[in-house]
Amino acid sequence: MNAIQADHLIKQFGSVTAVNDVSLAVREGEIFGFLGPNGAGKTTTMRMLTGVLTPGSGSVLISGIDIHRHPLEAKMQMGVIPESSTVYGDLSAEQNLHMSGKMYGMPRREREERVDELLTRMGLLEKRHLPVRTFSKGMKQRVSIACAIIHRPRVLLLDEPTSGLDVQSRRLVIETIREMNQQGSTIFLTTHNIEEANTLCQNVCIINKGTIVAQDSPERLKKMFDTTQSVEVSFDRPVTRDMFSGDAILRAEPCGDKWRLYTDNPDLVVKYIAGRAERESIGITSLVTSGPSLEEAFVQLTECA
Ligand SMILES: Nc1ncnc2c1ncn2[C@@H]1O[C@H](COP(=O)(O)OP(=O)(O)OP(=O)(O)O)[C@@H](O)[C@H]1O
Ligand SMILES: [Mg+2]
Repeated sequence: MNAIQADHLIKQFGSVTAVNDVSLAVREGEIFGFLGPNGAGKTTTMRMLTGVLTPGSGSVLISGIDIHRHPLEAKMQMGVIPESSTVYGDLSAEQNLHMSGKMYGMPRREREERVDELLTRMGLLEKRHLPVRTFSKGMKQRVSIACAIIHRPRVLLLDEPTSGLDVQSRRLVIETIREMNQQGSTIFLTTHNIEEANTLCQNVCIINKGTIVAQDSPERLKKMFDTTQSVEVSFDRPVTRDMFSGDAILRAEPCGDKWRLYTDNPDLVVKYIAGRAERESIGITSLVTSGPSLEEAFVQLTECA
């Protein structure tokens, strides 16, 4: 059973299709990275996964439980760190944690122990009695994370948890994610930081303009970003994916009126395409080879979906 199983999620806001047929599966015990540029649909997807937003269509199972049919049961399995913090400014750090623990049905004694443990781990012990509105952004984020993990959720979903944080807070957040994962929680991590995803995640999915454009294990993705080159080709008439069945072609993506072919051997790809085009009497109207850098690869993947 997958920790998260989303099928064919669609969400429209007026004429904007924010999420367009997104399906994803997060395996139990993994750290799953959900990447994409600003406005790609990450937050909208995550809000549907966590039951905050009702999808136009599609379904979400959390540990096998349908979030729309059994929202409470599904939410008990989850810890959520949303894009904008939901901590209560007028309450102290400690009160926020207690309230969150109460909501998850934790008995008082267990809660007290856990609150102390989390305040210590998050470096908030000295400020435990101060209202959270007096906290810095990084401190608020630590409270938000502590609230989300107080009940040791089976599945933890975070929406860009390190964005805008300094190095220390960022490390603390990353360490906490790793620790939760080592203790058995599945992690769904939304980010636009490729390096963060590369170092943390077992699987990564890239979304752009509401559509998933790549889904791969980190090593393969890293390899693709680090070493893969591409050949961009266009023809004088439409061709199907079958055109690109050559061994050297790792992946073929339609990209506007062109196709982008990922490879680690552009020489072979060019010869293969030329040979096939010749045999099938198809004209090549343009052909460009390039070896993208890490950042360029991400930009290329996300600008042509
Ligand atoms: N409540 C809403 N009403 C109208 N449009 C919305 C709403 N929420 C999101 N959108 C639109 O949906 C698209 C996707 O937004 P979303 O917040 O999911 O992106 P994102 O990937 O999280 O971006 P960011 O990296 O900036 O957080 C955008 O075009 C956005 O304007
Ligand atoms: Mg967002």
